[in-house]
Formats: sequence, structure tokens, C-alpha cells
Amino acid sequence: MAFPQSFIDELIARNPIEDVVGQYVTLRRSGANLFGLCPFHGEKTASFSVAPDKGIYYCFGCHKGGGAINFMMELEGLSYPDAVRALAKRSGMEVPEDEQYQSKYRAQERLWALHKEAARFFHSQLYAPVGSAALEYAVGRGMTKNTLTKFGIGYAPDSWDMLVRALTEKGYTQQELIDSGLVTVSRKNGNIFDRFRDRLMFPIIDVRGNIIGFGGRIMNNKDADAAKYLNSPETLIFNKRRNLFGLNYAKKSTLGYLILVEGYMDAIALHQYGFDCAVASLGTSLTEEHATLISRYVEQVVLIYDADEAGQRATRRAIPILEKAGIRVKVLQMKDAKDPDEYLKKFGADKFRILLEDSSNRVEYQLNAIRRKYDINQDDQKVRYVQECADLISTLGSSIQREVYGARIAESAGVAPEAVKIEVGKAYKRRQLQQKKQQEKIDLAPVRNLQPKARTIRYDNMRSAMAEEGAIAMALLDPSVMDEYKTFDGTKFSVPLLGKVYDQLIQMHRQGLEVTLAGLTDLTAEEMSHVVGLCQRREGPLNMEAFHDCISTILKANQASEVSSDEDLMAFRNKLKESKGTK
Ligand code: UTP
Ligand code: MN
Repeated sequence: MAFPQSFIDELIARNPIEDVVGQYVTLRRSGANLFGLCPFHGEKTASFSVAPDKGIYYCFGCHKGGGAINFMMELEGLSYPDAVRALAKRSGMEVPEDEQYQSKYRAQERLWALHKEAARFFHSQLYAPVGSAALEYAVGRGMTKNTLTKFGIGYAPDSWDMLVRALTEKGYTQQELIDSGLVTVSRKNGNIFDRFRDRLMFPIIDVRGNIIGFGGRIMNNKDADAAKYLNSPETLIFNKRRNLFGLNYAKKSTLGYLILVEGYMDAIALHQYGFDCAVASLGTSLTEEHATLISRYVEQVVLIYDADEAGQRATRRAIPILEKAGIRVKVLQMKDAKDPDEYLKKFGADKFRILLEDSSNRVEYQLNAIRRKYDINQDDQKVRYVQECADLISTLGSSIQREVYGARIAESAGVAPEAVKIEVGKAYKRRQLQQKKQQEKIDLAPVRNLQPKARTIRYDNMRSAMAEEGAIAMALLDPSVMDEYKTFDGTKFSVPLLGKVYDQLIQMHRQGLEVTLAGLTDLTAEEMSHVVGLCQRREGPLNMEAFHDCISTILKANQASEVSSDEDLMAFRNKLKESKGTK
């Protein structure tokens, strides 16, 4: 990205890391650093640190780290240039003109405006004569006028070009219509026509309030193959893996948790009945991105998927994804209704509230699921039932939990609590043994241990990579070490990422700028975390001698791989002789 380094340097100087992080995290000073609860993963003890002198943050729990720009990228889900813009705005700086960024941002703004226009069109059609059947349907399904307005529900008429014409009239080009995903291009003649026809339309709104896409429910099912719900395709502004229907409202809820449901209609019904914390995924199963997004707003989610087999499967899938993001999960099991929408209509909000209060934690949910698999009137199945439950219980961290659930299983199976306890103990030992074996495997392969955790970063030449990490750590600590290697840069590094980082460090130094991690640009969040992490981990001597060693190792590895006569190596050898001589 083409922001001048000097601009970035000033941006970072004007946005102290403790202030930027402090907007989101309560920090307490402890020595030179500040600590708080990590905003990226759920935790009770503060393992999230901020080092004002270095301009960086680092979490010892989830290993995320970086400078102020990365923090904004991670926390607000912004792209690099957007994060730069946000910080510039915060500190009253003007952003230098950046063609590529400007044009992309303009295109986005056009698409947001186009979607707003489309939503207006659909909404007006719902109240036009062509929309009378759709309006009747919506009202028949219990949506109030207020709900129709609040969610901007609309109707896409049964026509090939009404939307195309309406948007063209508003000045949108054919290319913009295509980019919006709201039209389809004919394969035969290249003409465009409305994608959504004769459908009840649900605008999808992001957390910043922009309409980014639509879901459309079929009305008259003339075409038996047509999907019940049709959603906008992925576009410049719409990514269904990162957005949730209803989150624009649910994020403002004071209930303190989110309710996650399968369908648009479920989420809307919940809001209408006062459960204003309901969100739905958009015709995809829950993703890690969804979980991360959710974890920014709440620590607890109640899963209410459909009562059918598919819903149960989706529940089992969603639990670990949410827990990995640090979210506590409860599961509400629907009885006598297939989904929340139907339940609310049949039994009302009060009954639902009771169900919600009774919703079990994921352990109870999983124990129930195991229970349904076995016929415990048969002895062999009863044994397997107890064993499988014991497996699950043995994973619980608290002994009280193990005892409570153990007793419950004993009662349901009609066996002595002691017997269950013994099974749990055995399961626990089995797992310990397994883990020990795994650990041994890891210990026996120390080199593999040093491989970066980030999947996209690989160390092929471990010796060189360790030296590269060392060179970076030392250059950051005392940039003057780089003075001695004027012609040496990142091209000799075996790990492209580390080479890129070293290049930027030496650039900063050459330009007379402060050499900081926070000044690094053009790295993904994952890469930035990796670099910050390696500096935090760094042990061992940090002096000129050690820096020589690192450079020597890097050059040797590079020469071995390239077999070329190398000026740098000659220069390096001379340098080394000199420094040895002076000692
Ligand atoms: P359901 O079929 O359970 O929807 O699909 P629903 O909310 O009960 O639908 P109604 O009550 O008949 O209107 C749940 C969700 O799965 C996605 C949609 O997001 C829907 O809300 N879905 C379903 C699709 O994307 N495409 C489909 O064809 C069906
Ligand atoms: Mn449903």
C-alpha cells in the first residue's frame, strides 16, 4: 500500500498504542507495560500487554500482537488502508492521496448507495399493487408494520427488469449493477436482468449500518427447483462468512448475550417478540469469522437451531467454533415447534423466556445427545452409554462439575455413582496417556516445534530462519547494529516474510526514522502477530557479536542455496576479521 513511510511514522507517533488500545480495553500499569483483558479471545486474567515504549501490544494467551495499525485491523475488522484512515481521523491527520485505495473506497460507497436505493425500491413495491400478495404473506406470518419498517422488508416483483430500470434511472451504470450482484448476466446475449424475482426481500445490513446484500424468500413456487431462499452473491461489499443478519440491531442489545438462529424469519420473529439480541447466519454454516465477530460484542451465545437432524448437526459443529473464540455456549432445544419463529407464534414470548432460562450449557446438551443414541434398557448399550458419557465428563476442568454430571449419569443409567466415577477416572487416564504420547512426539522433533504457528508462514531452513529472527530482534533493539552492514538487506533471507520485515527495518533506519515494529507495513494480521511474537520470545545475547553470527549464518545458508560468489560474504568476512582483531 502506497502510504509514504514518513506519514506512517507520524501516524504512529500521534496515535500512542496505549491510547488506541485504551479506547477498547481497560488497561492497568504494571512496571513499564500495561495489562488488560485480551479483546481477541475471552479470558478472565489479563494476559494482554501493551508496551508504550515499543508501540506494540501482545497477548500471551492467543499470541496476537502488533502495532496500532494492526490493532485497528484486527479489532474493527478493517483492511490496512482503512485502519490507517481510522487512525488518521482519530488524530486529525490528512491522509495522502492514494489512488488505488480511493478508487476502491469510492466503488464501495457507490455499491452501498446502490443497495440503499434497491432496498427503497423493494420496500415501496411491497406496498404497491404488485406487492399485495407478498404483503399479505408477510402479515400472515405475523410481521407487524413496525417490523416490516424496522427490517426494511421489501418485495422484488415478478419481472425481468424492474430493478434494472429503477437503478438505471438513478444513474447507476450497467457495470455497477453487475458488480452489485443484484442482476444476472445472460450467458446467451450478455443482457442483464433482475436476479431476485417474485421474492420477499430481506436487506442484510452490516454492523456499520450499510446495506450490503439481500436474502429473498420465494413467493409463488412456479419453478420446483428454485431455492426457497436466494441470497446475494459475494461482492466487493458482501461476504457472508463475515456478516450476520440482525447484528446491526443485536449489537445494541442490553441482554448481554446473542441468540444465534438458522433463518431470517427466526431472527425477525425474535426481535419482534422482544429478544433483540437475535442474529442469523446467511445461508451458510457458522464460520470462524462469524465467531470472531460475535466475540467482539458478547461472551455468551445461545444456539437455537432447528429441531431437525440438520439443526442438531449444525449445533454440534457450531459449539467448538464458538468456544474456540472464547464464547460460552448454551443450547436451547425446541420442543413442539420446528424453529423459534413457529415456537413464538404457538406459545408466545413468556413461554419462550422460560425455555431460554432453562437452556442448558453445552455439557448437558451433549449428554442429552449421547442419551438419545442408546437404548439403556439393554445392558450392552447401557455400558457404552456410561462409557461415552464418562469420556465427555472426564474432559471437564472442575471436579464439582465432574461430580454433579457423574451423579446425574449414574442416576439415569441406574448404576452406582461410584461406578461412573471409576469410568471417568479411567477415561481421564486414557486421555492423559494419549496427550503424553503426543507431547513426546513433539519433544522428539524439536525442529518442528520451532515452526511458526501461523499456517501461512513456513521455515524451510531452520538454522537460517533462527538467525533471521535474531537479526530482526536485534535490529529492533539497537538499530545501530545495521550500520555495519550497509549493503545487506532482506533478499538474503530464507524466509520471505522475515526478509520483507528486515528490509523495512533497514529502510526506516536509512531514512532516519525510528525503527519500530509498529512502523511495519504491508503485513497481514497473522504475519504481524508472528513477528511481534518472535521478538517477545527472543532470548540469548543481544550484542554486536551475536548480530555478526546471525548475519554470517544467513549469508552462509544463502550462499549454499545459491552457490554464487558474493560480495556481501567477502565484505562480511573482512568485517568479521576486523571485529575479531579488535577484541
Ligand atoms: P429454513 O428453510 O429453515 O428457513 O432455512 P425458515 O426460516 O424456516 O423459512 P420459512 O420459515 O419457511 O420462511 C433456514 C435458513 O437457511 C437459509 C436461509 O438463510 C434460511 O433463513 N436457506 C434456506 C437458504 O439460504 N436457501 C434455501 O434454499 C433454504
Ligand atoms: Mn426454519
